[in-house]
Amino acid sequence: MAILTIKDLTVKIAGKRVLNGVNLEVPEGETHVLLGPNGSGKTSLIMSILGFPSCRIISGKIKFNGTDITTMPIDKRTKLGIGVAFQNPPPIRGVKMGDVLRHLAKGEVDEIKLAGTTNIPVDFFNRDLNLGFSGGELKRSEVLQVLAQRPSFAIFDEPDSGVDVENLEVIGKAINEFLKGRSGLLITHLGHILRYVKADVAHVMFYGTVACSGEPTRILNQIMKQGYKWCERCPKVRRLR
Ligand SMILES: Nc1ncnc2c1ncn2[C@@H]1O[C@H](COP(=O)(O)OP(=O)(O)O)[C@@H](O)[C@H]1O
Ligand SMILES: [Mg+2]
Repeated sequence: MAILTIKDLTVKIAGKRVLNGVNLEVPEGETHVLLGPNGSGKTSLIMSILGFPSCRIISGKIKFNGTDITTMPIDKRTKLGIGVAFQNPPPIRGVKMGDVLRHLAKGEVDEIKLAGTTNIPVDFFNRDLNLGFSGGELKRSEVLQVLAQRPSFAIFDEPDSGVDVENLEVIGKAINEFLKGRSGLLITHLGHILRYVKADVAHVMFYGTVACSGEPTRILNQIMKQGYKWCERCPKVRRLR
């Protein structure tokens, strides 16, 4: 059974069509990877799955565990089990990281132990969330929040961007361990994190739609060798232009 099904989804943000007939299915228990050049619509797709009001659904459907969530508010989607580690999370002044983690963990997990698995020092718990965090700390903070929330479907939007080699391994291993027995969607720009995270299927986005899907390492190796120009030669992508 599919945990996430997206059918013909077309979305506008600020009057601009950012998604154009997206089809995507993630079966329960699988981890899928989303690749694609800058501006192809990856983050917009994540925002639409989570239900940001700025994402205006023009047509199509999003189903989660068989329930139509297309028009559901964000908090309800979160309660159903969708969790997102954002690409560019804003700092939240006056809200301590520790309080957020304790709220997400609901006393059911040891957030201090979790902080260790993402290499976040516990003195960060007393800091305002994401305020003054470095690029790598921001990514680790986002991943840690998802681990504390324990959603059944976890989305990671470029958790490896701007992360140094040691922390890439830390984050990659933490995500991989977390996704065992769960389902997820991982956006990665250069694919470095796939050294540590086992993925079942990769999808490539172009011009606001999923242009192709296949075996992650095969697709990524081609893109790494020839860039997205390789994809642009594909008749399917050409038709989208
Ligand atoms: N709030 C917004 N206002 C105007 N354009 C937007 C907004 N959000 C996203 N876009 C546009 O939508 C397109 C897709 O962006 P995004 O989903 O962030 O791409 P990706 O994550 O693949 O790099 C881009 O052209 C971007 O400029
Ligand atoms: Mg993005």
